[in-house]
Amino acid sequence: MKTSINLIIKGFININKKVIINGWVKTKRNSKYGISFISIYDGSCLKTCQVIINNTIKNYKKILNLTTGCSIEIIGLLIFSLGPMQNFEIKAIKVNIIGVIKNPNTYQITSKYHSKEYLRKIAHLRPRTNLISATSRIRHTLSYAIHKFLNKNGFFWVSTPLITCIDSEGSSKMFKVSTFNFKKIPYNNIGKINYKKDFFGKKTFLTVSGQLTGEAYACSLSKIYTFGPIFRAENSNTSRHLSEFWMVEPEIAFATLEDIINLSENMLKYILKIVLNKRNDDLFFLHNKKNINYLIKFLYYKFEQINYTEAIKILLRSKINFKFPVKWGMDILSEHEHYLCEKYFNGPVIIKNYPKNIKSFYMKINKNCKTVSNMDILVPKVGEIIGGSQREDCINILDKRIKESKLVKKKYWWYRDIRKYGTIPHAGFGLGFERILSYITGLNNIRDVIPYPRTPNMIDF
Ligand code: 4AD
Ligand code: MG
Repeated sequence: MKTSINLIIKGFININKKVIINGWVKTKRNSKYGISFISIYDGSCLKTCQVIINNTIKNYKKILNLTTGCSIEIIGLLIFSLGPMQNFEIKAIKVNIIGVIKNPNTYQITSKYHSKEYLRKIAHLRPRTNLISATSRIRHTLSYAIHKFLNKNGFFWVSTPLITCIDSEGSSKMFKVSTFNFKKIPYNNIGKINYKKDFFGKKTFLTVSGQLTGEAYACSLSKIYTFGPIFRAENSNTSRHLSEFWMVEPEIAFATLEDIINLSENMLKYILKIVLNKRNDDLFFLHNKKNINYLIKFLYYKFEQINYTEAIKILLRSKINFKFPVKWGMDILSEHEHYLCEKYFNGPVIIKNYPKNIKSFYMKINKNCKTVSNMDILVPKVGEIIGGSQREDCINILDKRIKESKLVKKKYWWYRDIRKYGTIPHAGFGLGFERILSYITGLNNIRDVIPYPRTPNMIDF
């Protein structure tokens, strides 16, 4: 039976047992005493397994020519290692060479250091580096932890659509979906594009959020979440924006802003704890063996909560010359987020009750008629990782907000129905999966925490 290297490293396999492992050569060293040492990886964990190959092995001459990246099968005996670097190693009985690299000089993943920028250009080969394989394992564990937390707390996972005919956020830049022949786009008699002739018979987009369709399910199943890809066509070439990213969106019936603030704080701490427990090796590697105390502190930190108005006052008091001058009514931008999290609070902070004019139409209006019942969670270095709100549950106010936001009311007919038939207070939030991953891994460019990043002018793979 084939064995994963992580089972060997964890000591789950009996000593002196015959094992078969499949993997790739990381490094190879030939000693002058007719022994070759290969360290082999199979991606199941960060560590490699050392294999000792004696020159009595049949294809020893070919083994001498193996280079980094060649794929092999080892059949051997698991023994205690004499070397200080590992507990176990394998004494090879047989080595099957599966795939060789004919021209090792052209192979881009050598053992020397490669910059992250360079690795992005070879996104199909970069999973072979420790950097990207460690990140991928953390990404998997984080997603598992999210499903586990929500399942444990009674949430149902709802698969909301990716192709849509409405703008869920009310003001988003959306990618269009069409099967039109660009050379022969049909126009109607007033010179406008005739979307009736397109695939869905309507103007169609990739979704910017699963929230609205998710809400309809929360208003029956009580606790739901969506977890899927999101597409935004903003021309933002920053280290925290992707054009395609993943979002987790829990939505709860009979709930208020306070309920989702508690839920989000509990969820963040729970998922981080799982990652710290299960991916310790990978985390230490990514943080370059430097301390990861900020993550442990996060588990015990009571998130600060402030109102938007208070945040503006703090920013004004700072006397910093921000690029975007601070005044009530403006959006809190990256530079302001950095100041609040890194300088002022020195930790995560929740900002609540933003002015209604800068937030989406679906957020519940507060009694003062100026702000909405919403919250953003900001963390040091990354900024906003969560955006959430209580939803407007009164049909008349919702209609007013749709109008104010210059949206076409009839497009939201089914969303309005939710308020017409047994409306309820409800609330939810969206966690940017890559943003939290960026925070946990310490990789400050979001392009390095998703396998194939999509950003303006970046779509080679
Ligand atoms: O704040 P946002 O836009 O909220 C929503 O979409 C709501 N519908 C969520 C809800 O209430 N159900 O996005 C939520 C989160 C942000 O806080 C951020 O972490 C992430 O999604 N996000 C992005 N991540 C990567 N690249 C982008 N371009 C992102 N835009 C938002
Ligand atoms: Mg937001």
